[in-house]
Amino acid sequence: MAFIDKHAILEKSPTLLLVASLLVVTVGGIVEIAPLFWLENTIEEVEGVRPYSPLELTGRDIYVREGCYVCHSQMIRPMRDEVERYGHYSLAAESMYDHPFQWGSKRTGPDVARVGGRYSDAWHVDHLRDPQSVVPESIMPKYAFLMDAQIEPTHIEPLLKTHRFVGVPYSDEQIDAARADFRAQADPDSDYDGMLERYPGAAVANFDGQPELTEMDALIAYLQILGTMVDFSTFTPDASR
Ligand code: HEC
Repeated sequence: MAFIDKHAILEKSPTLLLVASLLVVTVGGIVEIAPLFWLENTIEEVEGVRPYSPLELTGRDIYVREGCYVCHSQMIRPMRDEVERYGHYSLAAESMYDHPFQWGSKRTGPDVARVGGRYSDAWHVDHLRDPQSVVPESIMPKYAFLMDAQIEPTHIEPLLKTHRFVGVPYSDEQIDAARADFRAQADPDSDYDGMLERYPGAAVANFDGQPELTEMDALIAYLQILGTMVDFSTFTPDASR
């Protein structure tokens, strides 16, 4: 009797088949799950990815509050059409400090994972105030009210601490300097060197062009950092993972 014929024994006994199936599923499950307990990190570490600056983090909260994720994804898939349109496909590490992540699930508007640096701050101001003024066929809502919503860094330390609680490595120094860094990023006349040391690559600007610090400043600071942290001219994927 060939080995394969013995399979008939299993197939003819429901109990035996059940026990054997359970065995197969158990072994398969262990093989898939067990390595995760020994891996320190399932995300490939990538140079350049850093926690958001206080102003960027505030802008990110506004992005979430306004539901921008309902129309915009932040996840470029590794497919040619997407990479040609939006840039290098998204890496897991690029959203490792996002709580909650903003991958989104629908694109009514384009993906914004790499929108940072693509437009000027002034373009973003015009576009967010009145999208149809720059893209006539746009169906994006107007967010002009963000220009009038002044903000103070009242809750910035607790915000950073909360993110630290869920795993973002904010240092004590970053939390102590949070209020100052929040203001410095939106004021090119300030002493922002310390802020830039703590948050390399952060854009320093009066984003909305008004003297007051507003939600528009924070939102644009956030949009301008999106997808710019990793230098893809030097990045090589680690094929062993
Ligand atoms: C109802 C859906 C909708 C919502 C909500 C929405 N957008 Fe858009 N967005 C669009 C569409 C459609 C476009 C493409 C046309 C245009 O540029 O206006 C767009 C374009 C953009 C662009 C330009 C992207 C590019 O690469 O050209 C940015 C930046 C942007 N939106 C940011 C935001 C932000 C920030 C919010 C939340 C405050 C938001 N959007 C909310 C639909 C939306």
